[in-house]
Amino acid sequence: MDLKKIISEHETKLKDALKSVDKIEALQDVKAQFVGKKAELSKLMRHMKDLPNEEKPAFGQTINEAKQYFSSLIETRKTEILEERLRQKLAQERIDVTLPAPDFSPGSPHLLRTVIETVEDLFIGMGYLVKEGPEVESDELNFEKLNLPKDHPARDMQDSFYITDDTLLRTHTSPVQVRTMLAYGGKEPVKIICPGKVYRRDDDDATHSHQFMQIEGLVVDTDTSLADLKGTLLAVAQKMFGKDRRIVLRPSYFPFTEPSFEVDVTCSNCDGAGCNMCKQTGYIEILGAGMVHNNVLEAAGYDSTKYQGFAFGIGVERIAMLKYGIDDIRHFYVNDLRFNKQFKGGQS
Ligand code: PHE
Repeated sequence: MDLKKIISEHETKLKDALKSVDKIEALQDVKAQFVGKKAELSKLMRHMKDLPNEEKPAFGQTINEAKQYFSSLIETRKTEILEERLRQKLAQERIDVTLPAPDFSPGSPHLLRTVIETVEDLFIGMGYLVKEGPEVESDELNFEKLNLPKDHPARDMQDSFYITDDTLLRTHTSPVQVRTMLAYGGKEPVKIICPGKVYRRDDDDATHSHQFMQIEGLVVDTDTSLADLKGTLLAVAQKMFGKDRRIVLRPSYFPFTEPSFEVDVTCSNCDGAGCNMCKQTGYIEILGAGMVHNNVLEAAGYDSTKYQGFAFGIGVERIAMLKYGIDDIRHFYVNDLRFNKQFKGGQS
């Protein structure tokens, strides 16, 4: 038997096979066929027993060397296939930097947030603290301690979402006044604003929403007067609507303040002359306010013979609608990006 010749024939066959293989899986088959246990080369080992002893080592060694050589050919092909596969993958995944980039539009603050922050900045500058309270509130803090006992007719002004007999979604931010006064223990002066969401049972339309936002203000001290309230509210009106604005306080009624007022600002469109925007009155109502009722001070632990206070409640949506000419309160809540983007967070 001419072992060298047989090996060289196998080598030729292997090289042919390797040329036509271009997948790792197929290469496994070639490997089994040429160097595996069932390979022709392995089978040749069986002839060893027929050889004289002195020839056996050389015979075995030749076959083993051939197998090693074949294995190295297969490995080389394997590396080539893997490199080719990588090259193809890179070519497929190549990024075309000349393609237009996907549209990336940065967000902007919600307009209501911008209004709140503008008002907060004004008040922080005047030494106020910003306080928050829970939206699920007790009847006691939302109503009773604000001089609105159960069955008080003025409760009808704020139709409520009750959760249990004693808890409800707060109808205004005024309970944060009570919470703060109670926390201050009836001694410390109070100077706070409280922004937040409030809820009322209302049918939603262009000017009503069952959920909206308010900014409450409260000052309690030993020398707080109506003049302080008026000066403070003028600062708010001028900050939001321009430095030429003037305000008027119209007598009104809230159970928690006495006296109480609706506050109107001169129309920024006609400066008080009368136009369509202000329904020819020259004024636009922007908030409710008043001097804190003695009952409210006392219920929160303040001695009403020593302390006085003023309070106000700003409707955030109303201010935003007037300032930015928005005709439907629902625009604030449907989150249509086309609406939100128009205002770029108020920096138009
Ligand atoms: N809480 C009142 C409301 O929601 C507004 C208000 C606050 C009025 C503080 C006077 C003083 O209608």
